[in-house]
Amino acid sequence: MRLLVPEILDHLLPDDPRALRSRRDLVRINRVMRQAAIMARALSDFPVPQLIADLGGGDGRFLLSVARRLAKRWPGVTALILDQQAIVSAETRAGFAALGWDCEVRQGDIFQTLPQIAPDIITVNLFLHHLDDAALARLLALAASRAKGFAACEPRRSTFALLASHLVFAMGANDVSRHDAVASVRAGFRDSELSQLWPQAGAWRLGEHAAFAFSHVFKAHAI
Ligand SMILES: C[S@@+](CC[C@H](N)C(=O)[O-])C[C@H]1O[C@@H](n2cnc3c(N)ncnc32)[C@H](O)[C@@H]1O
Repeated sequence: MRLLVPEILDHLLPDDPRALRSRRDLVRINRVMRQAAIMARALSDFPVPQLIADLGGGDGRFLLSVARRLAKRWPGVTALILDQQAIVSAETRAGFAALGWDCEVRQGDIFQTLPQIAPDIITVNLFLHHLDDAALARLLALAASRAKGFAACEPRRSTFALLASHLVFAMGANDVSRHDAVASVRAGFRDSELSQLWPQAGAWRLGEHAAFAFSHVFKAHAI
């Protein structure tokens, strides 16, 4: 069973030193989990998009990492970061510009902002697990109505990932990251849990599988 407890980072102000430190930890945790490489692979058979939107995209550094892996094959894309906080730095924007990509930000609750956009592809990294199944079903239905492709890279709910999440202190992670890492795995996914929540209407090719040591991938492609 998934176990949901509120994550601390979601409730800290953007300039709180604990939040700033935890966002830096997230960059390293994403690297250890190989999230950007896993996401780039998941996207590799999608048609070249004009607009790609990252839900709960935080400071945008995750999507920038993915963009660096795809930009040669996917030129001139617009990256849209949707998050409750507007925290994409000038440096990150410059990183997208150096790849020939535009970067836009839309701040607000995802259920308010997602209906306002129509991206070709939606990506999600370490965000779906924040939602209970009812909210997830609502978000996935909304995503299916807004985009032609969807890819999520989430924590895998497994004994090994749970053990690893207790060890993030060894990377020097702060109290926020230590709490949220364990909470994330307990709220994570396995088997075909996300496919079962994807809307049945419409023609979609679905894929869902474990990736590397700690991750769980779900993708949906309109046929
Ligand atoms: C664990 S962080 C992941 C951030 C980013 N995807 C990454 O990999 O670095 C989860 C993100 O979801 C955002 N978030 C949480 N609840 C949200 C909501 N209801 N609407 C929009 N963003 C939300 C938080 O601000 C945070 O940036």
